[in-house]
Amino acid sequence: MAEIIGGYFTSHVPAIGGAMHRGAQQDPYWQPFFDGLPPVRELLARKKPDVAVVFSNDHGLNFFLDTMPTFAVGAAPSYANADEGWGLPLYKTFPGHPALSWHIIEALVEDEFDVTMCQKMLVDHALSIPFELAWPGVEAWPIRIVPIGINTVQHPLPSARRTLALGRAVNRAIASWAGDEKVLIVGTGGLSHQLDGARAGFMNPSYDQFCLDHLAADPDALTRDSIHDIVRQAGTQGVEILNWIAARGALGEAAQEVHRNYHLPISNTAAATVWLEPEPA
Ligand code: DHB
Ligand code: FE
Repeated sequence: MAEIIGGYFTSHVPAIGGAMHRGAQQDPYWQPFFDGLPPVRELLARKKPDVAVVFSNDHGLNFFLDTMPTFAVGAAPSYANADEGWGLPLYKTFPGHPALSWHIIEALVEDEFDVTMCQKMLVDHALSIPFELAWPGVEAWPIRIVPIGINTVQHPLPSARRTLALGRAVNRAIASWAGDEKVLIVGTGGLSHQLDGARAGFMNPSYDQFCLDHLAADPDALTRDSIHDIVRQAGTQGVEILNWIAARGALGEAAQEVHRNYHLPISNTAAATVWLEPEPA
């Protein structure tokens, strides 16, 4: 039986990639953020997951405003990294796990989540940055991936309640998988940030605190606001918290926080890194 070994949540600000590339991790601006990573790296080195189910959002690389799946599940043998315009170095291609992808797709559709199945998919900074943070400079990624894209870009967005339900359905799918892989759940993006418009630069530590304080023990608390109320509190891009909510659902009913780091600003973003552990029922 597959085992979910933990949930790794982190922001995916592209400038983090630039800072790693320049070796600026210990600069005063960056250090408080990078200080959040060693515990995650230690947990990964100890727990050695085989496959990661990754909830993130596409930023106009695979999908643009004219064609936008609400929930897109990758079922490719591999996923190349591409840069949708940030000037980032390209990271290594990620090996896929098509058999597990198809199992999750079949289970989700059976569970009445009508997902878009993607036998080709690129991955952008929302996936590459968190992986480079977790395994900096490795020769080859030590893990296969099943990427799940959530529309946080083109309205109407899925509700937080629906997104948590999607994550819980992924948890049931993993529970019914016959393999014995160790599975890491990853949620990327957030926390509060707004990149454009009149509120560009907006961040909201008190809403972030609310999300972080409830993520493990009471994720349903994050689903009571409408999408517009989440945008109001988190910013237009802070609605990437949907990725975290789905990932929390994929951990199962009970979870506890093992590690938390929160720091702002990183670029235009209130950045956080969290590790949650599922608790046996
Ligand atoms: C930034 C944050 C994001 O989540 C993103 O996708 C792009 C940029 C930022 O703060 O610069
Ligand atoms: Fe983003």
